[in-house]
Amino acid sequence: MPVIVAIINQKGGTGKTTTTINLGAGLAYQGFQTLLVDLDPQGHTTLGMGVEPDSFEESMAEVISIPRKNIADVILATYINGLFLAPSHIKLARAAEQVYSRLFRETILQQALRPLDYDFILIDCPPSLGVLTANSLYTSQFVIIPCQMSRYSLDGLADLLTTIEEVKNLDGEELFSGNFFRILLTMFDKRNRVTNEFILEQLRPYLEVTFATIIMRCEALNQAHIAQRAVFDYDAKSTGARDYYHLTQEFLYLCQKRNCLPEKRPNLLSML
Ligand SMILES: Nc1ncnc2c1ncn2[C@@H]1O[C@H](COP(=O)(O)OP(=O)(O)OP(=O)(O)O)[C@@H](O)[C@H]1O
Ligand SMILES: [Mg+2]
Repeated sequence: MPVIVAIINQKGGTGKTTTTINLGAGLAYQGFQTLLVDLDPQGHTTLGMGVEPDSFEESMAEVISIPRKNIADVILATYINGLFLAPSHIKLARAAEQVYSRLFRETILQQALRPLDYDFILIDCPPSLGVLTANSLYTSQFVIIPCQMSRYSLDGLADLLTTIEEVKNLDGEELFSGNFFRILLTMFDKRNRVTNEFILEQLRPYLEVTFATIIMRCEALNQAHIAQRAVFDYDAKSTGARDYYHLTQEFLYLCQKRNCLPEKRPNLLSML
């Protein structure tokens, strides 16, 4: 059974895609078979992994719309060994609209992912709390909420946690036991002392459910995205590479604590 992780925040530009790509690459480099599901019609994870929208016939749009395509038929290998991609296309926006009128519309992705055999599946969500995000929440065992270190970054957090609770049908206590989600602080710039103090004060009730790893603002992460590479392959010595390596380790530690760390598979390349 794969560990399915939804990477969500209804706010735009908080680091969802950057986290999907670089945590995914980090897990693959640790020897885990990892699938990135690009569930954002903007297709930024797809582009970020070096896959152009005109280079494939079918995508998550066809997996979500009717007649449904088997997801295994749209998955592509990426340039990283052990890292795979279910690409997105702008057509996914239309497909999501059509889904609104369907019964059990939150379960479509779960049904699609069920037959897959990976260690981890990371789902990059669009910046909204629509049906695509609801689908990824419904099917995931873990949620990562990237929050940018800026004045309004935590404003929608309470709404987001309520949505998580509604979709997962959890009572508040379980949600706050921290078993289900973690907030990830991104684009941290230590020169912005006043902003940082303000955000950290707002974050106080959520400290237990915040990753200890903080992603610093780092130009190499931007540049890696433009170069369509994971940061480890663009600038392995950058703070971005260091932070996402630490995040990968912390995430694996959390999985281990919850007894859901997949066993590593023998990998021929690593044995040579
Ligand atoms: N730690 C960082 N340091 C510097 N730039 C970053 C960092 N994280 C992300 N960025 C840049 O910020 C922009 C937004 O990041 P990203 O695309 O990951 O956010 P997002 O939440 O996926 O956005 P959207 O809501 O539009 O999908 C991108 O240009 C990305 O390269
Ligand atoms: Mg994105």
